[in-house]
Amino acid sequence: MNTPEGFVPLRIKDVVRETGDAMSLVLDVPTGQESRFSYRAGQYLTLRVSVDGQEFRRCYSMSSSPVLQRDLRVTVKRDGRGVVSNWLNDHAAPGDHVDVGTPEGRFVRSESSRELVAFAGGSGITPVFSLIQTALAAGSGRVRLLYANRAAGTIIFKDALGGLAASHADRLTVRHHLDDERGVVTERVVRDFIADIVDVTAADYFVCGPGPFMDTVETALLAAGIPADQLYLERFTAAPVPTDEPSITESVTIELDRQTVTVDYRPGHTLLQMARMAGLKAPSSCETGSCGTCIAQVTEGSARLLNNDALDDDEVAEGFVVTCQALPTSRTVRFVYE
Ligand SMILES: Cc1cc2nc3c(=O)[nH]c(=O)nc-3n(C[C@H](O)[C@H](O)[C@H](O)COP(=O)(O)OP(=O)(O)OC[C@H]3O[C@@H](n4cnc5c(N)ncnc54)[C@H](O)[C@@H]3O)c2cc1C
Ligand code: FES
Repeated sequence: MNTPEGFVPLRIKDVVRETGDAMSLVLDVPTGQESRFSYRAGQYLTLRVSVDGQEFRRCYSMSSSPVLQRDLRVTVKRDGRGVVSNWLNDHAAPGDHVDVGTPEGRFVRSESSRELVAFAGGSGITPVFSLIQTALAAGSGRVRLLYANRAAGTIIFKDALGGLAASHADRLTVRHHLDDERGVVTERVVRDFIADIVDVTAADYFVCGPGPFMDTVETALLAAGIPADQLYLERFTAAPVPTDEPSITESVTIELDRQTVTVDYRPGHTLLQMARMAGLKAPSSCETGSCGTCIAQVTEGSARLLNNDALDDDEVAEGFVVTCQALPTSRTVRFVYE
């Protein structure tokens, strides 16, 4: 049975302990719902869970491969004192049901024959593992992975990656980086890792991990001449919205589903937050500027983006914004959801 908001309760078929602080949920897709849950490697699901009577929604990337496994599998790492990641690690059990939205996300490959160069940090391995398994099973190019973790005990999919590297020795290279042995990943580590790629512009680069790790990798790759459109970034957390910045914005006008609402602007709030405050059911999913679910077009005034991994330069020039990451910068702003 589907819920009105498009969530489907899926049965947890299995819970697999991956490391001391991470586990995978294997989700059973009911007969008849296969097309709804078909996905591309690198995409994610939104899970809706209730913890102590309060509802939470969180995104989790598939660690399974769409060409290898029928069941969906997501892998959840405990995030400090975070609510949902800890609750799932402590309470999810086979036979339970969890509400799941349909697969989304743009952290996907458009060309499977090119070389895949991946950088993962911690739980960022989840979509990367799906991309790697899929590339090896259904693609033809080489695959390289630089995988950073704090210490050896926290490496998710360590054995599985080792097995793939052994069975695809001619195509897959996995290099582990442990912070407790070598410090955090620096631009030099990234440069060294790609040093023997003959033509760096002939590969696709996928990066997922903690913010500072992603920033370092992105800077090093761009400095090495990798075209920005061959660089794919998936952020699990958004940068905090600066709340102490002075703002000249007085009001925002939102057009959504044939409704037009104007509200006073509250400094430090994104356009998505303003739409919610105006009582509108504005679309959103990742809330990190990655998925593109919340895109709208600014038709009057202007806004700046705190983070944007979803829109290309042309779209930004046309006024499109990811509303979850957009702060208004003019006295009044009007934005329209498609
Ligand atoms: C597109 C996308 C894909 C994702 N894929 C994955 C994935 O495959 N695997 C995965 O593990 N995660 C993934 N995430 C991250 C995931 O969605 C959650 O953000 C993550 O699990 C944390 O959620 P939470 O409810 O546990 O933490 P929250 O409760 O939201 O807390 C967030 C942070 O705040 C801190 N915090 C919370 N309460 C307190 C407190 N009282 N005191 C101090 N600090 C506090 C927590 O320590 C945590 O670091 C993905 C995110 C996105 C956007
Ligand atoms: S909700 Fe994903 S980009 Fe805004």
